[in-house]
This record gives sequence, structure tokens and C-alpha cells, in this order.
Amino acid sequence: MSPEPRTPAQYWDTYKPYRGTGEQPAPEVGRFEWTQYPGHGPGAEVLGRPRRALDLGPAEGREAVFLARQGVATTGVDLSAAQVDRASRWWKDTPGLEFVHAEAVDYLTSNTTPLDAVYSVWGAVWFTDPELLFPLVAQNLTPGGIFAFSQAEPSPGAYGPQPMHGKWLEGRESELTVLRWQYTPQTWADLLKRHGFTDIDAHILPPPGGEGLGTLLVRTHRPV
Ligand SMILES: C[S@@+](CC[C@H](N)C(=O)[O-])C[C@H]1O[C@@H](n2cnc3c(N)ncnc32)[C@H](O)[C@@H]1O
Repeated sequence: MSPEPRTPAQYWDTYKPYRGTGEQPAPEVGRFEWTQYPGHGPGAEVLGRPRRALDLGPAEGREAVFLARQGVATTGVDLSAAQVDRASRWWKDTPGLEFVHAEAVDYLTSNTTPLDAVYSVWGAVWFTDPELLFPLVAQNLTPGGIFAFSQAEPSPGAYGPQPMHGKWLEGRESELTVLRWQYTPQTWADLLKRHGFTDIDAHILPPPGGEGLGTLLVRTHRPV
């Protein structure tokens, strides 16, 4: 059994573990998925036609691979060294794609390459204080650039930074509390507006057939 994680990075090292033997095979990359239900909801068109994109918290890196295969120069930035190592190994032969081991706020603070799209699929945006992150995302985007993210729909009545719990943490509960930020779509829209974003669409995409967890999907722009 792996030791109890003591930092968020160690916690995320254990995300999507491989229980087989030998080298773990790379996952299939079908389409760009914003939800946990394959083929459900919109795909990469949410990001427009970027030349350069940044994935905040890619883990396995499937969405970043999808974009790179479409000719988008894509960087995936992840806090977990294990996730970055694994993704870098799997996708090393994909042109226009790189994975960087860094915390999202740190990366955006020092990055000097303008980005046409910044996105996060159930990734770092969910686990980072938006008051810190949003100004940096705006600063890194080109004028008219797109910022989009998805995460689980908020549980009613639990807003702001929430300690993580839920069945996907089974067997990994520890003294470490990892926070995730959840708000209603209207509150996300207000936050983004306050940080200078425009043309904001924040909504809950219901699960297929109305069964299960919906997805919060947010798309906005840096003003031209
Ligand atoms: C729930 S996983 C989602 C991964 C992937 N986007 C997916 O859809 O499968 C969250 C990912 O975000 C990364 N992450 C969390 N907080 C982060 C931060 N502050 N900076 C960079 N990456 C972060 C974690 O290491 C993890 O790989």
C-alpha cells in the first residue's frame, strides 16, 4: 500500500492508479471530453480555434493530446510529478505537446508565452482559489482569448472552498484535506466579471438521461 499523502501533490500522485503489471498502456484519445460521460456535451469547439493552449491539471493528458493532434501547440501543467511523468512517457511522440511539473498559480506567474486558450477539465481550476487564479489567467491570455473549465456540479448549499469527500476518494482518506472550490453558475459568472472577463457562459450540463452527476461548464473571454 502506498504511504498516506502529506501534500496535495502526493495526493494527486495517486489519481487513476494502475493496478496491472508492467508498463501501463496509454488510454484511448477519442474526443475532447468536458464531462465524465464519454461523448456527452460539447467538445473542443468550446475553445474556438486556438494556436496555443494551456491545460491546467491534465493528469493523463487526454484533452491536451486531442488538441495537439489538431495542430494546437499545447502545454499541460500539473502539480503531480507522477502524473506529469506518466503523461510525458505516454505522449512523448506527439508533436506540439509538452507536460510541465508545476503548480498552476506558479506557472502562470512566470509564464511569458501568450495563450489563446486556457482550460481545465475537472482540473486545477477546481482546486485553486479563483481569487488567485483568475487574474493570472486573464494576464496570460491573448486579447479575445478563451478561458473554459468544467467540474462536478456543486452540491446544494455547499459553496466556497470545500474539503473533498466522495466515493472516488475511497481508500485514500487521510489526515490531508484537499480543497475544491464550488459555486453556483451565477456566482462563477460574477467572479469572472469582477476579474475583467466578458461574454461569460456558466451553466450546469445535466447528465445523460438525467441520471447521475451533472457538470458545471464555464466559458468566457479576455476582452479584445
Ligand atoms: C481530478 S484530476 C483531473 C485530471 C484530468 N483533467 C482529467 O479530466 O482526468 C485533477 C488534476 O489537477 C491537478 N491539480 C490539482 N491542483 C493543481 C494545481 N494547483 N496546479 C496544477 N495542477 C493541479 C492534479 O494533480 C490532478 O492531476
